Amino acid sequence: MALGKLRLGVNIDHVATVRNARGSAYPDPVRAALMAQEAGADGITAHLREDRRHIGDSDIDRLVAALRIPLNFEMAATPEMQAIALRHRPHAVCIVPEKREERTTEGGLEVARQENQLAHFIAPLRDAGCRVSIFIAADRSQVEAAHRIGAQVIELHTGAYCDAHHDGHFADRDAELARLREMAEFADSLGLEVHAGHGLTYETVAPVAAFPQVKELNIGHFLIGEAIFRGLPASMAEMRRLMDEARDPRVQP
Ligand code: PXP
Repeated sequence: MALGKLRLGVNIDHVATVRNARGSAYPDPVRAALMAQEAGADGITAHLREDRRHIGDSDIDRLVAALRIPLNFEMAATPEMQAIALRHRPHAVCIVPEKREERTTEGGLEVARQENQLAHFIAPLRDAGCRVSIFIAADRSQVEAAHRIGAQVIELHTGAYCDAHHDGHFADRDAELARLREMAEFADSLGLEVHAGHGLTYETVAPVAAFPQVKELNIGHFLIGEAIFRGLPASMAEMRRLMDEARDPRVQP
């Protein structure tokens, strides 16, 4: 399979986390999004959580108005979020599980056990022209269910792989990576577009970027953290370099 260019979606949620820590107007996540756009991001991802702990409604309004590149609107499967998405009709929506007490999106969406509800939930979003993505663990039954409900895209949750790597549990990391690879291949064989993300860093990005079926990575926390030291364009440029290198046939192992 020819390895096309891998898209980099930059998640700017944690610029808003810093802003909200002081209840101030800065740093502005929309400014970060425009800077990322200028620096070559292929898309911007923002997660409007039920508790608005980082991105707020007016951030979404401003992102929709300001961006030239696609917005990937991450949201829980709730009527409130569906109404917001239908009002804005972003390029993409990514349906994620959400628990109030979690620090971040801890696992993938349980699609298999709520297939009918989710099929009804995403139908109007698809009809409105949004590309619907479902954030799931690398699990065959979830991939099959995402396909059955009519999603166009799955985003594979890379958190378990990244956690195992950073904790030094390399056997677990390799097992997680094998699972991700297998599910990327399986989803692609069903005609789903495959994305991946969560927890990716300079150390962990290359093996996932090398999967030929993966078309887009969504990366936030690490890039925004690294931007404190290097600035956002340089933080992104290094990620871009590692992604491109991983797909370069001349440097494949
Ligand atoms: N993809 C999805 C669906 C997510 O929920 C998140 C976290 O908001 C990310 C990607 C980005 O993860 P991280 O911020 O750890 O890079």
